[in-house]
Amino acid sequence: MTEQAKKVFIKTYGCQMNVYDSERMAEVLTAEGFSETSEMSNADLIILNTCHIREKAAEKVYSELGRIRKIKSDRLAEGRSTKIAVAGCVAQAEGIEITRRAPIVDFVVGPQSYHRLGEMLKRSNARCQKIIETEFPGAEKFHNQPVRQKRLNASAFLTIQEGCDKFCTFCVVPYTRGAEYSRDYTEIIQEGRQLLNHGVREITLLGQNVNAYHGTMPDGSTGSLARLLYGLAELEGLERLRYTTSHPSDMSADLIRAHGEINKLMPYLHLPFQSGSDRILAAMNRKHTSAEYRRIVDRIRNVRPEIALSTDIIVGFPDETDEDFDETMKLVEDINFAQAYSFKYSARPGTPAANIPLQVEEQQKNERLQTLQALLNEQQSRFNRSCINRVLPILFDKNGREKGQIIGRSPYLQAVNAQGDGVCIGKIMDVEIISAGPNSLKGVIKSVAEPAIKDSMIN
Ligand code: 5AD
Ligand code: SF4
Repeated sequence: MTEQAKKVFIKTYGCQMNVYDSERMAEVLTAEGFSETSEMSNADLIILNTCHIREKAAEKVYSELGRIRKIKSDRLAEGRSTKIAVAGCVAQAEGIEITRRAPIVDFVVGPQSYHRLGEMLKRSNARCQKIIETEFPGAEKFHNQPVRQKRLNASAFLTIQEGCDKFCTFCVVPYTRGAEYSRDYTEIIQEGRQLLNHGVREITLLGQNVNAYHGTMPDGSTGSLARLLYGLAELEGLERLRYTTSHPSDMSADLIRAHGEINKLMPYLHLPFQSGSDRILAAMNRKHTSAEYRRIVDRIRNVRPEIALSTDIIVGFPDETDEDFDETMKLVEDINFAQAYSFKYSARPGTPAANIPLQVEEQQKNERLQTLQALLNEQQSRFNRSCINRVLPILFDKNGREKGQIIGRSPYLQAVNAQGDGVCIGKIMDVEIISAGPNSLKGVIKSVAEPAIKDSMIN
């Protein structure tokens, strides 16, 4: 088989950062003569881009590796070899352990080493040995990426920051993704331009702690997420901006102001609070209280009253009492979220909270999660129903499952489906919302909406 004919299959778990990284890995491998396949059994190289955030996420990788073992041996029986790589946060956290538990794995590659994939492949072809790359070379990963070349949707991710210095006591991210690193302003603007040249209309800036962004500006000063948003909003062709995921302590005054001033910045914000109890927040090392969270939300709603808020919440953190959980319910009731993610606490090896002796019973965690999710679902459904009869600009980016159906996103990030022509994909259209389910809206296309204001993007 020639090098050109090689195929790679990439399966992505976890967060949007991994989605971005998988796209970039595909680009690195294209430069090495690979093309992507959606059939695992056709792949000469299978990459699992993994997540370590909760135990369940990490365990999924091992069950997938069990299935892949069969594919590898079936292919071998047909005379075809298959390389198996584990990338992402499980790779970073477990390193060589993975090859002990799953000997079929040929490479273990941490999130900072994807630019080395080509060289790793060559090394692995030359010598039949396991290759482990889990160092933290920081900026190197970004500086060595090829230009954006993959076929892109109308909406694309752009990683501007990686790692986290916050050390919430439940979280593995500071260990798997390392210390906070921000890309240079100019490098990000350049990648933004490349995306727009590929027809992208919406850019979501990514970072584990995206609003802690502090990259270097062209004049050598330290930038901020707000300055970056103002800069990106001026790019020709860009119609929508978003960013995720944020920490309340980094919602600076200039960032809040940006929500009121930049039309292209969509009226949606994901702002995790994790718990409503100050006692638990302190044990989590969250560096904010529930009153501070409320104040931040008030200030954001002051400048952008229509903003839809989303959050992350953990139930059953060690020593969480019924009273602590009630505080979480109270905060959710008071804020009224448009959508939210909620999780049962999962003890992660190496994190401080895993050593707290007072772990909450599984049964208790399940009950609390159910109670919380009932409230969150009710709030989300109410928000979705409030959109009925409104005409919203929808950015369509893919075909739906049903014939003639296309799917897009509202400014508030709701999925919206409508009957429409494929030519609408990649465009922002005015859509009248006619019905609302818990997780999506249905609408009727009215007309082509004007692109977001170009000359006067600032109010
Ligand atoms: N257990 C449960 N949820 C967790 N998260 C992070 N670590 C854990 C853990 N150990 C959740 C947090 C975070 C989101 C990405 O995942 O809510 O914001
Ligand atoms: Fe994890 Fe906390 Fe950092 Fe978010 S802010 S990535 S929850 S340590």
